[in-house]
Amino acid sequence: MNLDREKQLAAIEAVKYVKSGMTVGLGTGSTAAHMVKDLGRLVQNGLKIVGVPSSENTKKLAMELGIPLTTLEKTNGIDVYIDGADEFDPYMQLIKGGGGALLREKILTFNSDLVIIIADSQKEVKRLGDFKLPVETIPFATKKIEQSLQKMGLQPKLRVKNDENFVTDEGNFILDLNIGHISNIQLLETKLKQIPGVVETGLFLDMADIIIIGQGETTITLKK
Ligand code: 5RP
Repeated sequence: MNLDREKQLAAIEAVKYVKSGMTVGLGTGSTAAHMVKDLGRLVQNGLKIVGVPSSENTKKLAMELGIPLTTLEKTNGIDVYIDGADEFDPYMQLIKGGGGALLREKILTFNSDLVIIIADSQKEVKRLGDFKLPVETIPFATKKIEQSLQKMGLQPKLRVKNDENFVTDEGNFILDLNIGHISNIQLLETKLKQIPGVVETGLFLDMADIIIIGQGETTITLKK
């Protein structure tokens, strides 16, 4: 199974929803990178779009490819947002944030008319929760949040990169939680968001309109 090929096929299929004149939200991660590359190719062939990147990494890639960019506050909204996911279930609920860009990703998702998730076949699960749920926290509160989450049995782990705390594009930390296959994911989201200093979670509930999955040499499309 060639997962990278599946990511690429899903990305190419998603890009078919992009038309000239659109403002396009650009996700983050290896799957989204395929989408940005395909868009770059189309822009070089005359497609007129403006991109809104969800991370500094995606911004850099899009600039290298010559995709015109803007910021969220300068747009009147985003026509289509395309991004990857770490897990999705049959109800099109998602865990995102493995790449650490969940805050900007969730803001762009919320402000988009159409949200398309692209994924390889291994991202599909019966129930969310095998993937550790990323939660973005402000550094000032992170130690206390960690203690609260520990008491809730969620086994928080501060994300580290190159022996240092991982810092998001917004200057925050990430705690990765072991949520297991809990039944009430909406309640978990509410509880997490009630903790002061929790900025955002990687639960993207009822946010995806379309999921395109690469499957071998073809794609499968799920719609809301
Ligand atoms: C980044 C994300 C990514 O979309 C998610 O981690 C999937 O990444 P990849 O496409 O590399 O598997 O949420 O914050």
